Amino acid sequence: MSAAQPRTAAIILAAGKGTRMKSALPKVMHQIAGRSMIGHVVANLGPLGSQPNVVVVAPGMDQVAAEVAPLPIAVQTDQLGTGHAVGCARAALGDFPGTVLVLYGDSPFISTATLSNLVARRVAADNPAVVVLGMRPADPAKYGRLILDTAGGLDRIVEWKDASEAERAVTLCNSGVMAIDGKVLWSLIERVDNKNAKGEYYLTDIVELARRDGRACAVVEAPEAELMGVNSRAELAIAERLFQDQRRALAMEEGATLIDPASVFFAADTKLGRDVVIGPNVFFGPGVTVADDVEIRAFSHIEGAKIASGAIIGPFARLRPGAEIGIDAHVGNFVEVKNSILGQGAKANHLTYLGDADVGAKSNIGAGTITCNYDGYVKARTVIGAGAFIGSNSALVAPVKVGDGAIVGAGSVITRDVEADAIAVSRAEQVSRAGRARDFRAQRQKMKQDKARK
Ligand code: UD1
Ligand code: MG
Repeated sequence: MSAAQPRTAAIILAAGKGTRMKSALPKVMHQIAGRSMIGHVVANLGPLGSQPNVVVVAPGMDQVAAEVAPLPIAVQTDQLGTGHAVGCARAALGDFPGTVLVLYGDSPFISTATLSNLVARRVAADNPAVVVLGMRPADPAKYGRLILDTAGGLDRIVEWKDASEAERAVTLCNSGVMAIDGKVLWSLIERVDNKNAKGEYYLTDIVELARRDGRACAVVEAPEAELMGVNSRAELAIAERLFQDQRRALAMEEGATLIDPASVFFAADTKLGRDVVIGPNVFFGPGVTVADDVEIRAFSHIEGAKIASGAIIGPFARLRPGAEIGIDAHVGNFVEVKNSILGQGAKANHLTYLGDADVGAKSNIGAGTITCNYDGYVKARTVIGAGAFIGSNSALVAPVKVGDGAIVGAGSVITRDVEADAIAVSRAEQVSRAGRARDFRAQRQKMKQDKARK
């Protein structure tokens, strides 16, 4: 956090059951672009430098605690409402004198810039006690409504269930996100009651309470797309689509060619260099870094991989976690690479499994080569030197080493190390019997005719 930035802390509410997801997984653990919803919230909060960031969970939400670790957790035993949930973070947050942001774990798209605007408004000269992030959704539906005073300040928030017809006609809605003056937060929360249509402790009531104390409250507006919340699988799919559309646009803006953008799926953390060309139907899982001038051809599935400049991947390639593809290396169709390093200019172009392997620069891995890296109990490494040639349909039984410049004959099963520049062949000797095929055919033909005569 730079000295110029206002001091900020955050409370992320994630204790809701998310019943509409119909899932054994806590709602905020469901993923968008390979990252949990709560992971998105934490990632967008990151650059703000807020500290501490407390996550409010329900009992038993250990997966959420693990996902956000090392952030502190506060447990809300009973879900009595958003105001009660914020109160549960009190012990973890303490008497924090700066601005306290309240975020929802199921609103994954609020940008760092919007959060920063909210905090900036909170510390403006009129020193509002509460700044609420508002939106004007195409369908205001059952969102809480933001009721302004004649001067344009925020007077109160009314929940849809408690709202009059006139209040429901208001189009400015509560996104749920707020920035609150830490000096008055707890005194406001203590006074929230549950005398309302839902019988819940509404966080939204703190606006009216602050106004009664003579403090100003304000609204900052943001686009609806950023504030979307996810409550069902259908909304999760909409969120995924929104994210992907934005990510594709960004990839192109930053200098990648996407031949068919709509069929390319990125992870939230995919990193692309310049002049990367991505063919149709390519999928990126988490943890992928692609350098400049890489071509990723159609139908490739890539996760946890690092691809150096000039490499060509696919079509139909699968790169799994720990795959490191060197400069100008090629990984072709139906090749799977896991936890393996391919050196500069190395090639594995057809029908191959490279698992737990090192492949030296310029080595050529023939079609159908398999590194046998697992014996059912432990994994072992295959080390192939530089400039080696592995003949087609070879099995390299790890742990095993093939030296620089060595050649492995096609169809070999290699169980012992091969020294540099040696040729290793391990397959049955070829036996050839002259004329035997012709004799065989004559014999069989006769047998068939004899049988037909009987
Ligand atoms: C809330 C707002 C509403 C706003 C809407 C935006 C209140 C009272 N209402 O309503 O004005 O328009 O969000 O989406 O705040 N949570 C807990 N513990 C609880 C209750 C909720 O952690 O006891 C968490 C949920 O996990 C969720 C968030 O708080 O992340 C919001 O709760 P939810 O019940 O969805 O509030 P809404 O009724 O949607
Ligand atoms: Mg909600």
